Amino acid sequence: MRTAVTAPSAEELKRQNDIMLKIKRINDGLPERPKFFINTFGCQMNAHDSEKIDGMLRQMGYLPETEEKKADFIIYNTCCVRENAENKVYGNLGYLKHAKKEKPNMKIALCGCMMQQETVIETIRQKYKHVDIVFGTFNLYKLPELIYANMKSKSQIFDIWDEHADIVEDLPMVRKYKFKASVNIMYGCNNFCSYCIVPYVRGRERSRRPDDIINEIKALAADGVKEVMLLGQNVNSYGKGLDENITFADLLRFVNDIDGIERIRFMTSHPKDLSDELIASMAECKKVCRHIHLPFQAGSNEILRRMNRHYTKEYYLELIDKIRKAMPDIAITTDIIVGFPGETPEQVAETVDVVKKARFNGAFTFIYSKRTGTPAASMPEQVSEEDAKKGFALLLDAVNPIVEELNTQKVGRIYPVLVDGISSDPEYVTGRTDDNTLVHFKGGKELIGEILDIKITECKTFYLIGEKIQ
Ligand code: 5AD
Ligand code: SF4
Repeated sequence: MRTAVTAPSAEELKRQNDIMLKIKRINDGLPERPKFFINTFGCQMNAHDSEKIDGMLRQMGYLPETEEKKADFIIYNTCCVRENAENKVYGNLGYLKHAKKEKPNMKIALCGCMMQQETVIETIRQKYKHVDIVFGTFNLYKLPELIYANMKSKSQIFDIWDEHADIVEDLPMVRKYKFKASVNIMYGCNNFCSYCIVPYVRGRERSRRPDDIINEIKALAADGVKEVMLLGQNVNSYGKGLDENITFADLLRFVNDIDGIERIRFMTSHPKDLSDELIASMAECKKVCRHIHLPFQAGSNEILRRMNRHYTKEYYLELIDKIRKAMPDIAITTDIIVGFPGETPEQVAETVDVVKKARFNGAFTFIYSKRTGTPAASMPEQVSEEDAKKGFALLLDAVNPIVEELNTQKVGRIYPVLVDGISSDPEYVTGRTDDNTLVHFKGGKELIGEILDIKITECKTFYLIGEKIQ
């Protein structure tokens, strides 16, 4: 791995733009334009990075393809938060080896968090020689240059940096939705939760300048975007390290003032950094959705201490009390891990206790996955798979009835729903309430992008059925 060289953002972008043009000319000259397929693993940060990759590839003359096996250029944007996400990538790569034998011109690129680990790079060098281009999380904007280098040399290209350079603004981007968009407000994480690989693969926290964020959102609003999702690993520490004196609470107020934007979401918040000022700003800003994702991870104070989370169960419960007092209609969702090294059944019971007291509207529950290089990986007493599964089942038994109960309370009420797509039953569309509950109702694709009043008629545990109010 090498350390990034700081390059002036505008200059660097121009260089990549010039290379994009060269590649476009090459692709324009081919009998058929090469088709690309991006397989995205992991979180919304990765999904957003894939929108940038998509934008660059189209600018270089590649055409989007929805079926992997028909594509000439396949990119895997990988995740390494848990082991099974990595295993999926290796499994797919095995299959692609055969596919490439039948289609020798196929190009395969790998990027994203998994590529920031030296062991992974070694494995790819040794076992997956059919991969053409490998890059990491810090140099996504260099994709044109890497493609060009591979075109010229026909050899494997590895370009992994172990820290970030300047934030490169204004990359071309193709948004998945016309009416909603994700916007990075910061990159990286400084928290080093002892189980988590993210700080090692996404680097230190750095915030984008408020002007860049605001201008991007204004341009999105002008382009028809109604809902923005502000993205960061830990949005509550937004602003640290910037020349301007600005907090996340201030940023929310600025975004709230942008005409055309109707809904503001953000993710993810760390409980330890969630200030009273932020709660006040959320309550005051009418466009900020009544939903907060606030991972608590574990209920036992001893486990929280060993997870390096910097809060206690009591602090967390008080915090959500405060949030609900300020915004009684807010939905709170969370992330929970079971099977952290040394976690006893009594400690799992404490997690279940938090679930019952906090009454979450939704929870992502995970079995602890050992990540080499993190402090938790070398802690003694790794929990057996069997015990972790037992804890996991107990947890779901606690979470699901509460989710169902809270969703059932919505039956008979009317909620504005932003319609985002066609349901698996083509007579229905799907959308989200302000508090992020999924709703299905009868309607056609012409409704996509609209915010409509929907009367809830039925609860299906994790989603609702409704009907349009005439
Ligand atoms: N094992 C299981 N879950 C993890 N998460 C992060 N690292 C791990 C791990 N090693 C979960 C946390 C985090 C979410 C994004 O993924 O709950 O909030
Ligand atoms: Fe991982 Fe903790 Fe940072 Fe979240 S806050 S990305 S769990 S280290």
